[in-house]
Parts: sequence; C-alpha cells; structure tokens
Amino acid sequence: MTNETVLDALKNVTYPGFTKDIVTFGFVKDINIEGDKVSLTVDITSSADEVKGKIVSEATAELKKLGFLAIDVNVKAPEAPKQMSNSVTGKNIAPHIKNFVMVSSGKGGVGKSTTSVNLAIAMAMQGKKVGILDADIYGPNIPRMMGVHGVKPEMQGNKVLPIEAYGIEMMSMGSLAEEGKSLIWRGSMIMKAIEQFLRDILWSELDVLVIDMPPGTGDAQLSLAQSVPVTAGIVVTTPQQVSLDDSKRSLNMFEKFHIPLAGVVENMSGFICPSCETESDIFGMGTAQAIADEYNTSLMAQVPIEPAIRNGGDTGQPITFFQPDSETAKRYHKAGADLLTFLDKVNAEGGVDNAAMQPTTPPGVSACSTGSTAAAAAPTKAAPKTEAPASGGCCGGGHCD
Ligand SMILES: Nc1ncnc2c1ncn2[C@@H]1O[C@H](COP(=O)(O)OP(=O)(O)OP(=O)(O)O)[C@@H](O)[C@H]1O
Ligand SMILES: [Mg+2]
Repeated sequence: MTNETVLDALKNVTYPGFTKDIVTFGFVKDINIEGDKVSLTVDITSSADEVKGKIVSEATAELKKLGFLAIDVNVKAPEAPKQMSNSVTGKNIAPHIKNFVMVSSGKGGVGKSTTSVNLAIAMAMQGKKVGILDADIYGPNIPRMMGVHGVKPEMQGNKVLPIEAYGIEMMSMGSLAEEGKSLIWRGSMIMKAIEQFLRDILWSELDVLVIDMPPGTGDAQLSLAQSVPVTAGIVVTTPQQVSLDDSKRSLNMFEKFHIPLAGVVENMSGFICPSCETESDIFGMGTAQAIADEYNTSLMAQVPIEPAIRNGGDTGQPITFFQPDSETAKRYHKAGADLLTFLDKVNAEGGVDNAAMQPTTPPGVSACSTGSTAAAAAPTKAAPKTEAPASGGCCGGGHCD
C-alpha cells in the first residue's frame, strides 16, 4: 500500500458543496502508512461541522475499502467564526441575507468584478453560504466570469431563482436581458433595478451577498445603501496614482454612507511571470497602503497581474476555484477569511444602520431640486437633475464626493 493508492481512493471524496474532490483541491496531507494502519490530515478552509463530518465519514469508508483496519482522518479546520447576524434599524428589503458587502472603485476596469467573484468563492470554500449580485446594470460581466454566460434563470411565480455556480448563487442583468442589446436607463430605473435584484430574486438565507458595483459613486450605490444595511465596503484600486486618486471618492462615499470599510484591495499589483513564478514590480506595488492608512482601514490583499486571472475571467474558471494552491488564490482566501472576521466584528458591535440614509424629501419632490439632504449622506455638490424619485444623499446620476 502506498501514498498514491491512498490518494487515488480519496479522489472519490468530493468536497461538500463542490464537484471537485479533496485530493484535487490539495487538501490531503501527511499520509502515514504502517501495515494496516493509516493516518492523514485533511487541511480544509471551512469551519462548518457538517463539512468536517462528511469528509471524515466518506474518507474513512474509502480507506476501509482498501483494507485498512485502523484509520485516523484528522480534519484541520479554522476556528468557527461566531454566529453572524445583521442587527438593523432603518430599511432592509432583504432581511434574510445576513451581510451585504459592496465592492466599489473610483475607476472602471481595475478589477472589481474579478475581486468580487474570487472573494465570494473563497468565502464559500470556507463554509459560508454566499451569493454574488452583479449590480453593474450597463456592463454585467459576472455571468461570463462565473462560467454561466447565456444561462437563463428559472422563474418561480413572478420571482427569479438565482443561478448557481462554484458553490455560490449569482444574479446579473446579463442573465436577464437579451444579449448584445444596449440598456439605456435613467437613474430612477437603475434604482428600481437594484431594488428588484434584492426583492424579487429568490436568494437563500445567505451569510454574505457580495455586490459587484459599477465604477464610481452614483445611483446604484445610493440605491443599494438605502435599500439594505451594507455591512462592509471594499474598495478596489490599481497601484497607479491616478487610480488611487479616484478611489478616494469611493472611500469618501463609504464614510458618508456610514458603511464600515473592510479594506482596500490593490489589484494588478506587481506581476507574476507564468514561466518563472517570480513576482516583479512592473506597474507599482504597495502604494495602496498609504490610502488604506489614511482612511483607517487595512490593505486586504495585493493581487498581482497574472495571466491566469485574466484567463480565469474570460473562460469562466475563477482562479480561486480552479487553482486553489496558487499564490493568488491563497491571497483571495486570506482576504475572504479576513472579511468574514470583519463582518463578525461589525455585527458584534451592533451591526449597521441605514436609517440616516433614507430619503427626507416629500414624495414626488426631488432631493436634487429642493437642495434637501439626507442627514448622513449630504452631498457637497449636486449633480445634474434627473427624473429620479425623491432620494436622500447624492442626486440621481450624480456623484457623492
Ligand atoms: N490581477 C489581474 N491580473 C490579470 N488580469 C486581471 C487582473 N484583475 C483583473 N484582470 C482582468 O482585467 C479585466 C478587467 O477586470 P474586471 O472586469 O474585474 O474590472 P472591473 O473593475 O470590474 O471593470 P468595470 O469597471 O468595467 O466593471 C478583466 O479582463 C480581468 O480578467
Ligand atoms: Mg466589473
């Protein structure tokens, strides 16, 4: 009996909730065979007892089939986080979802969607029930990145079931609208769409809903913050000064909306050469630390430029799921674990409250036209008037800085 025989047998044990097995994920370690005795470690990222229990019983059954009499499957798992809850006053149109995480950036194309997908998968692999909402109504990219491009969701009555992939639930305008058709929507329609995404999609009782925002600070961001208590905000930036400058707008927005800041992700930070696997500083690295310090938050991750990340996005095979042992996946896993700890901390301290974000203008009167402001989200400059309904804070189509 060799280590290889044992690994081959354990390939029949799939990681609960996924189609891949524990060997392919790289979780099986320290195999020790002595006659008819075998011991091994399964080093998993989930702290859920069901996951541990299932792996031990299935692995033991497989090893029994090989003829081992004494079997010791030691599952190493991170400490279980405390029960998460979302204690709230204010408005919450999706109260069965425990935590909402808004992923934003000042600039387009810096990697919000890539970050959202990989963080969501990392948290799911750590045993959480996770969803991802693509709130980028005009440029929905999540279906392609999640490998469900062209898949149409099922209806249940007049509600829509989220699409499932890689252990998480997903919904996007890209899965609802006809492909290639341009969407020309006014601010008020964007706000309505965001509300419907929260109210009319049959999300499960999720631990975390990751929300991939369009770039900037406008209607979608305001609408989301008014509709549900957003537990944490994440700002994605690239290391260049121009991106850092723009990301301050997103950081300011979170401050004005009273959304706790989980941190900054520095994406496209350095370059990992595919042939030599060394990391080099070609476009800059580490520059986001100063901005994180300035806003009293942490640098959650530095994610290098890596062809495998772009390829994972284009082919719908996210790196965190498909190459879990890569350095980049490990960084997403660490950021996911840190995010879960952050959510716990926010909830332990009383949760979030969006009461101050609610509109203060009478029905039918635009906050922009009256100059009225919501208590917490007062904009310093009003944006062009749209036909948006009365809204506190930033005006429809405007910016919050
Ligand atoms: N670290 C990285 N290494 C290599 N390619 C990356 C990396 N991060 C993102 N990309 C690629 O860059 C492109 C833009 O990324 P992404 O779509 O995630 O950005 P975004 O901020 O969501 O853009 P938008 O503002 O248009 O929504 C994608 O093709 C993605 O695969
Ligand atoms: Mg995007």
